[in-house]
Amino acid sequence: MKEQIEQIKVTSIEEVKNAKDLRELSDLKVKYLGKKGELTSVLRGMKDLRPEERPVIGELVNKVRDELNELFESIEKELQEAELARKLEEEKIDVTLPSNKAKRGSKHPLNRVIEEIEDLFVSMGYDVVDGPELETDEYCFERLNLPKGHPARDMQDSFYITPEHLLRTQTSAVQARVMMANEEKSPIRVIVPGKTYRREDDATHSHQFNQVEGLVIDKGITLAHLKGTLEVFMRKLLGDNTQLRFRPSYFPFTEPSYEVDVSCFKCGGKGCNLCKQTGWIELLGAGMVHPNVLKMNGYDPEKYSGFAFGTGLDRLAMFKYGITDMRYLYRNDVRFLTQFDQMDREGK
Ligand code: DAH
Repeated sequence: MKEQIEQIKVTSIEEVKNAKDLRELSDLKVKYLGKKGELTSVLRGMKDLRPEERPVIGELVNKVRDELNELFESIEKELQEAELARKLEEEKIDVTLPSNKAKRGSKHPLNRVIEEIEDLFVSMGYDVVDGPELETDEYCFERLNLPKGHPARDMQDSFYITPEHLLRTQTSAVQARVMMANEEKSPIRVIVPGKTYRREDDATHSHQFNQVEGLVIDKGITLAHLKGTLEVFMRKLLGDNTQLRFRPSYFPFTEPSYEVDVSCFKCGGKGCNLCKQTGWIELLGAGMVHPNVLKMNGYDPEKYSGFAFGTGLDRLAMFKYGITDMRYLYRNDVRFLTQFDQMDREGK
């Protein structure tokens, strides 16, 4: 048995010293020192020895094990250092090499227009608010004076999810939400940019588009406030010479209601192909908040009045940047999108 142990010692030392890497070393550890390793199995044979031999052999095994453990430790350290050195060499980075330039994205024209509008209205004391795109029939229509079966609903053919839920067809839905959420029924001054949906699909309409809504409620709000506000809004966006024209129209949630045209910014009102020779371009719906809407959403129409307006952001972006097809806005073609950075840089 003694010879057997000596033999194990000699071969194991030899093998451990020749281990090429940490993995091989750990295999060897299992082979010699593991639970089923060679030294351990020698210990198991001790029961067949004469009693006086047992302590001698036991001591020998322990000695060899200690020696081996020490050897494993030092070889492991050596191998670790070698590995680290190899890695450092292999993964050396030349910091002086030119980098792969990351291409900077550019802001989408719709977001540009939204940000410009937000900046303007925030500077006039408005809050920018949001509402759910999956809306209830109640907020999208009923609380805006459009009860079920109202003929004006036909203009907004919708994606219904359940009989009571739909993808909102207009950001006007948020008007009712803001009024209802205002517990003190205090004055309101908000704009609501956001996505809207209708069942439409042709060159100038998309099933998804963007609107921005405006709502002001306070004591003594008049049509003059609405006109002044829209003038500032349109001139900021489309140029100082922009003229506005209010045409009587109908929306269930405003009374009186208007469609608002702006003088054609391409020809200045003389008539061209953009404005179809009329000199005007229709851009907004607007009006004085209907007393029913105020009442239904908790505001006393005897005390308060308000104005509201809504406009399509896609059309606005198209006019502002001279984009001819609305679908470009949703294609995410980088060649299209990067042009607007350039326009900004040139101060257009
Ligand atoms: N929500 C209307 C639409 O999508 C636009 C509109 C008209 C909004 C008049 C208003 C408003 O706030 O007063 O056709």
